[in-house]
Amino acid sequence: MVSLGEGETPLVRSERLWQEVGTREVYFKLEGCNPTGSFKDRGMVVAVARALEEGSTAMMCASTGNTSASAAAYGAHCGLTTIVLVPGGNIAAGKLAQAIAYGAHILVIRGNFDRALELARSVTERQRIVLVNSLNPYRLEGQKTAAFEIVDDLGESPDMLCIPVGNAGNITAYWKGFTEYQAAKKASRRPQMMGFQAEGAAPIVRGRPVVDPQTIASAIRIGNPASWEGAVTARDESGGLIEAVTDEDILEAYKMLAREEGIFCEPASAASFAGLLKLSRGGARLAGKRVVCVLTGNGLKDPDLAGQTADVPLHEIPPDLESVEQAILALRKR
Ligand code: F0G
Repeated sequence: MVSLGEGETPLVRSERLWQEVGTREVYFKLEGCNPTGSFKDRGMVVAVARALEEGSTAMMCASTGNTSASAAAYGAHCGLTTIVLVPGGNIAAGKLAQAIAYGAHILVIRGNFDRALELARSVTERQRIVLVNSLNPYRLEGQKTAAFEIVDDLGESPDMLCIPVGNAGNITAYWKGFTEYQAAKKASRRPQMMGFQAEGAAPIVRGRPVVDPQTIASAIRIGNPASWEGAVTARDESGGLIEAVTDEDILEAYKMLAREEGIFCEPASAASFAGLLKLSRGGARLAGKRVVCVLTGNGLKDPDLAGQTADVPLHEIPPDLESVEQAILALRKR
């Protein structure tokens, strides 16, 4: 039994933004509340427990940041050597800080995530090192528990689940979770699965791999997802969709979530709400629907981006009462 306290994350009901999209209710699943700040911990704990059972001593993953942070934490917790392959220049500061702090071996490649994943697959086929990317089936077994929690909290499956899609493991895992819960008669139905990719990294939307994926949401900067088929199955079986949202859409949703709901998530996570906004603005019939948006990672993962979104530059003032009061007056005038 291995645990850092993953799972059982809050499902928070929207106070304001639900009106913006014209639904009955919107809920946010706060996966940033997991021990390393993202949903990856749910699956990593299972993959690592299995690796220990099998007598492994080392594991490896390719990552846009969160998987590496999670693997590094569980590796440290269980005494396994952790090797992470990350794309140079494209990993958020908080995630790299985590991998360093937990003492992982970090290999930064001159290449993107898709190349890193190819390399990690080859190395783990050749050597006695366990691959802990979501190709590892235990990862998805852990991640599906988020779907169980949503149904448990609501007492029924929601009408719609909005979720960011990168390597496509998570949407695949949620669909598995909802399907198993329905089979176990813990839910009478399953939600429509609405997946959202970033416009510049939307291979599933385009129907072909993207060679040089680009987006501000570095977590989902992926051009050839490993669980492509799983995502398409979830979409088609649920009568859902997989669409693209622009970086502008993502940033708008990211700011709205923080300022109007008090929820600070990372940009990739905001793609789920950006997608819901887009559907609503495009005239989708959302009235009467109960929608859950999965917010996959904590906003602190990417502190640089938050700094760049400040409305006015931060500047220092003298430490006296008059200066502070003057500054407050100036704020009121804006
Ligand atoms: N949101 C965040 C914050 C992520 O880190 C990821 C994936 C996703 C969404 C997409 O999930 O890949 O299952 O479709 N991050 C991986 C990583 C690729 O290496 O941390 P997915």
